Amino acid sequence: MVLLTSLFALATLASAGTITKRQAAGAQVAKLTSIENIAVRSNGQILATSMSSTTIYSVNATAKTSASAIVVSGAAGFSGIGEYLPDQFAVIGGGSTGTTIYKIDFSSGKAVSTLVKKIAEASNLNGLAVLNNDTVLVGDAGKGVVYRFTMSTGAYSVAISDPTMVPSGGIPFGIDGLKYKDGVVWYTNIFKNSFHKVPVDATGKATGAVVTLWTNLMGDDLCFGPSGKIYVATNGKNSLVEVDPAAASPTPKAVATVSGSTSCAFGRTESDKDVVYIGGSGGVFSATIK
Ligand SMILES: *[C@@H]1O[C@H](CO)[C@@H](O)[C@H](O)[C@H]1NC(C)=O
Ligand SMILES: *[C@@H]1O[C@H](CO)[C@@H](O)[C@H](O)[C@H]1NC(C)=O
Repeated sequence: MVLLTSLFALATLASAGTITKRQAAGAQVAKLTSIENIAVRSNGQILATSMSSTTIYSVNATAKTSASAIVVSGAAGFSGIGEYLPDQFAVIGGGSTGTTIYKIDFSSGKAVSTLVKKIAEASNLNGLAVLNNDTVLVGDAGKGVVYRFTMSTGAYSVAISDPTMVPSGGIPFGIDGLKYKDGVVWYTNIFKNSFHKVPVDATGKATGAVVTLWTNLMGDDLCFGPSGKIYVATNGKNSLVEVDPAAASPTPKAVATVSGSTSCAFGRTESDKDVVYIGGSGGVFSATIK
């Protein structure tokens, strides 16, 4: 979710865990407001969403420029985004309480948006993970569940429901970051300061117990690095941390400072495959991972 400026955020900061200091500041790639999530196209462009803008931005990290990739009137704003087929992206629309899944298709050479379907019973969709080439998983931060959603039909149902996903405290925001890789769903619960994983089958249904990796560091969305490490944006802790997914109780190591960090994605071209892009309250930033 976006950077919190309320007193609530301050209370959260006081309870968040410690992480290794001395990381370098992320380099600004594009100045934009309240970037919520990012995804990288195969041509190298970074797509960036904001919950308060109907524009999905396109950022060129080489030129350090941003432009509108597409404006979707009626969407209010966008959050989680992921590529499920070559140059076809699923994105959650509806602003700060998104409930609608859109498809943004660049495969014809021109961006085309389609409203696939509203998840009528959803309260507040935020994180999005690609399960396969026709299915995305979307986290309902308000209800604390994950839906599986079929892009070609708009069919959906609850895939995972767990107490670690539900909101705590006054702000209706529980499960936040959500990503899938190799049979495992990884997710954060922002105000529980927690990070979790759960094994799933091909339909996204949990096949084992939820494992809690930590409960003392705020986590927003996450991404996978080329070396197999996982990177988690820490939002109010203003950093991106690196995590060894093989560790039972990983020690998060900060790799970049980014104010209000919400999300990350690695470069996809030869020249930036070791560069992680980070969405934050002031735009899109980058850090080279050695
Ligand atoms: C990004 O900008 C560079 C430098 O201006 C340009 O060469 C490149 O084609 C651009 N990339 C894309 C994907 O538009
Ligand atoms: C999607 O994946 C399935 C299973 O791997 C494959 O059979 C199918 O051809 C893929 N569809 C597209 C459009 O790529």
